[in-house]
Amino acid sequence: MPLRTLDSLQDAVGSLAGKRVIVRVDFNVPLKDGVITDDGRVRAALPTLNQLINQGARVIACSHLGRPGGAPDPKYSLAPVAQRLSELLGKPVAFALDTVGESAHEAAAGLGDGDIAVLENLRFDPDETAKDDAARRGFAARLAELADAMVSDGFGVVHRKQASVYDLAQLLPSAAGQLIEKEVDVLDRLTENPERPYTVVLGGSKVSDKLGVISHLLPRVDRLCIGGGMMFTFLKAQGHGVGKSLLEEDQLDTVRGYIAEAAERGVELVLPVDAVMASAFSADADHVIAAASGLEDTPFGADGLGLDIGPETARLFADAIGGSRTVFWNGPMGVFELAPFAAGTKAVAGALTEVDGLSVVGGGDSAAAVRQLGFRDAQFGHISTGGGASLEFLEGKKLPGLEVLGWQ
Ligand code: 3PG
Repeated sequence: MPLRTLDSLQDAVGSLAGKRVIVRVDFNVPLKDGVITDDGRVRAALPTLNQLINQGARVIACSHLGRPGGAPDPKYSLAPVAQRLSELLGKPVAFALDTVGESAHEAAAGLGDGDIAVLENLRFDPDETAKDDAARRGFAARLAELADAMVSDGFGVVHRKQASVYDLAQLLPSAAGQLIEKEVDVLDRLTENPERPYTVVLGGSKVSDKLGVISHLLPRVDRLCIGGGMMFTFLKAQGHGVGKSLLEEDQLDTVRGYIAEAAERGVELVLPVDAVMASAFSADADHVIAAASGLEDTPFGADGLGLDIGPETARLFADAIGGSRTVFWNGPMGVFELAPFAAGTKAVAGALTEVDGLSVVGGGDSAAAVRQLGFRDAQFGHISTGGGASLEFLEGKKLPGLEVLGWQ
């Protein structure tokens, strides 16, 4: 079944002019000392927010930020995000100091047609993420009191069964916003008949986070490139020493199984042939390039840390990507935040910009990486705002925040 969209919401509640519409967005942006370092998720919410504003709705945007653990914590306040939203919209944005309390009700009551307010971090209330259905539903009911209708547009959080994502959408007339519609449309093209060759590039630190997606994708892709911290578990499984690099010993058997399955299925599993080994986890650490078979044969011996794929691996990955018609990439290839270890991630991002077909960057970290490395969003087919959400979508999992909007 398709998603319920904004048009269907108007069929359900009539014109949105003058109606209070609560919009669940994903404003979970990276912050450093209270300053937003990547506002991609705020920008991604603009089309829906502008559409509602232009239709004269009274918009109440709500989101989580980080994982404050169910209690107010100024470090996780959405105030700087509301400020950024106001700059991007070019209009005032009211900010409520709570989520369902007096301040939220005052902010909602003070909205004129086409005005917008942002509520404080939903996860300051433990019931937002409660496992107990009644507690969660109680919080959702209090959010529902603020509005006449609900629009769900926080794609990054649709894999969470949380009050504002799942329960609220059942308590008010609800529909998906433009961002969720677009994300689902693109990711669905990756799962239903992708144009071939289809290559997936996975990075990031933990194999255990990517187990589901690797086993789901192996029967579906033509090539799978593995970089990032998790590559060392694959290299170890191939019999190489990896020094003090990230290693998940308990995943070695699983990884050996993937290597065997890829061979059986004729999937090209592209594993690193070299890596950048460093003396320490720091931008000014000594570092050298080492072949996969000699990661411990560097001046750092068995104390060396692998912090990026090497240049030969970057070339192999770029070739695999370049010859593909569909590419999905999730997870940095190395510690891209530190300049000496950013080359692998930059090479993969650069190769994606050249793809003749559909290129999709999935996930918060990879999206932040491409922007930080100087790429523009328009150079890619699609940059997903969802990390865990896009992976779970590709795994074929049922996502509560989409099911509740009619998606099956
Ligand atoms: C994300 O950053 O992937 C989303 O905002 C979801 O955040 P969460 O993993 O804390 O639920």
